[in-house]
Amino acid sequence: MENSYKKLIDGNRHFSMSKKFEDPEYFKNLSLGQKPDYLWIGCSDSRVPANEVTGTHSGEIFVHRNIANMVVHTDVNLLSVLEYAVKYLEVKHVIVCGHYGCGGIKAAMSNTHFGFLNNWLRNIKDVYFKYQTELDAIENEDKRTDRLTELNVIEQVRNLAKTTIIQETWVQRPLQLHGWVYGINNGLITDLSIIHNEKDNIEPIYRLNILP
Ligand code: CO
Repeated sequence: MENSYKKLIDGNRHFSMSKKFEDPEYFKNLSLGQKPDYLWIGCSDSRVPANEVTGTHSGEIFVHRNIANMVVHTDVNLLSVLEYAVKYLEVKHVIVCGHYGCGGIKAAMSNTHFGFLNNWLRNIKDVYFKYQTELDAIENEDKRTDRLTELNVIEQVRNLAKTTIIQETWVQRPLQLHGWVYGINNGLITDLSIIHNEKDNIEPIYRLNILP
């Protein structure tokens, strides 16, 4: 029987022991509750773990991950995570972090039939279509893929700004939305965009009249 999973249990035992060795109160303190300042919306890709690439620890980042770090406004999972993070945990920053070399982006740029996954990839194809003139002008395929990765992040940040959750929060308090791209080849994050206020960044039709 394939039992590579056992190394995860061994790893867990080592993790628990070493944390307790460093700080005997570590788990006791964490079990008191969480108050993270950040919500991370990232790709499910195994090479982009939120805490590891940001040098943070348990308790610091609330995390949602899906294929190609999408913010789809009918995704009840994403919206529930967002609502909880913003309204209950009161995070100060929401970060959409894409990554170069993203398989979801590459898949969306092809015409391959991926079955059920076509439904998800369609959201990325829509971003391509929106920026088709700019993207089609980039001859190098890798560069075109990288650019779609960046544009996709920016669009997902704007999708956040269009949500009722974020717009209601902006009436109440400051909240920053960030768009980042992580380089799998160098481990570095590039800061692409920041949104403090919906009026600067989304078209009028998406702006909701919410009373304070
Ligand atoms: Co990816």
